[in-house]
Amino acid sequence: MSSLPVDVRLSRRLASVRPSATGAITDTARRMKAEGKPVISLSAGELDFDTPAHIQQAAIDGIQNGQTRYTNVGGTQQLKAAIARKFQRDNDLHYADAEIIASTGAKQILFNALLATIDAGDEAIMVAPYWVSYSEMVRIADGEPIVITPDATSGFKLTPDLLAQAITPNTRWLILNSPCNPSGSLYSADELRALAAVLRHHPRVLVMADDIYEEIVFDGEFASFAQAAPDMKDRTLTINGVSKAYAMTGWRLGYAGGPRWLIGALELLQSQSTSNPSSVTQVAAAAALDGPQEFLDTWRARLRVRRDLALGILADAAPLLTLQTPAAAFYLYADCSATLGMKTPQGAVISSDIDLATYLLEHGGVAVVPGTAFGLAPYIRLAYALSDTDLKAACEQIVAACKRLVPT
Ligand SMILES: Cc1ncc(COP(=O)(O)O)c(C=O)c1O
Repeated sequence: MSSLPVDVRLSRRLASVRPSATGAITDTARRMKAEGKPVISLSAGELDFDTPAHIQQAAIDGIQNGQTRYTNVGGTQQLKAAIARKFQRDNDLHYADAEIIASTGAKQILFNALLATIDAGDEAIMVAPYWVSYSEMVRIADGEPIVITPDATSGFKLTPDLLAQAITPNTRWLILNSPCNPSGSLYSADELRALAAVLRHHPRVLVMADDIYEEIVFDGEFASFAQAAPDMKDRTLTINGVSKAYAMTGWRLGYAGGPRWLIGALELLQSQSTSNPSSVTQVAAAAALDGPQEFLDTWRARLRVRRDLALGILADAAPLLTLQTPAAAFYLYADCSATLGMKTPQGAVISSDIDLATYLLEHGGVAVVPGTAFGLAPYIRLAYALSDTDLKAACEQIVAACKRLVPT
């Protein structure tokens, strides 16, 4: 019996989502590794450190104590209390229980917040270079990403003028990410206050403060948006998580503080989709937030050494690569415009940052992410959260590969 053809049409919603600009590079890196070719990856957005022992132990205890069942959708009382203490201690922000939610990564909070508040035609402002998922999440939610590209010389930071020009009657969100992935830029409290001054004229605009890299700051002081501008708290969603701070990317736990109506909407969406984040992870996250924080100083110091090591070696690739010293996070965002038009020893012409990343992978043995993925090209992003030895080798290989490029 012949069966009818399967209808493989996907929803219009999905059709609006663009495939990852890095797909081909990721595939090549995987293939090279499978063939036994050495590849050092500077592409991972996570720390190479292990989750600290006291956090691991809390999770093991949690499993053995039976904390293995469904919990409240938005997180256990124990975890919400730990999150409230964290916001109070580090950000001078007071959130009541109903103003806090825990989810399966900060990613789920960002996604659900957009889904809960955006209708067709609504706009969300983001600042290039921006974290890859923002624009696609807005599209999935039927909204329109509005990308502002500040000057690289101002550290890629949004200015009040640029913000004022971008706001329209359709603007629903301003997505702020400080410290920023991928640029590593950090907004001072004064800079955040200057943005708040613009937003006061536009009461419809909500602010998504993605603070996920809060703990990884080298120069300057971290400030959360609602902390810098307390009158904005009732329209700010302050998003954070344990992924980057405590080397817990795989555990999947993000959290947010925000106005009751919005947190309630997030909880509603979560209740009909994924329910509570993993119960075991919640125990571990509470231990992370409530436990000792001193080791973070050691981690920061190690990361700073790596940042400076990488910058020192890559300086030899100038003027083909131009780098600024990032104040925070664990990424370098290198301007590679001077490589465009250059020829590789294999005879290929570099015409985009994707070409350069492909060349560095295939002929330099180093995986980096092209800036195209972050809405600002031609750049490459290098994540330096890997061992000093591997980082040194990777940077030297990049320099050597750049030096092999010849003008056409
Ligand atoms: C800027 C930014 N926000 C959010 C996330 C998501 O973090 P989580 O692991 O908590 O989902 C990431 C992860 O790379 C990120 O870089």
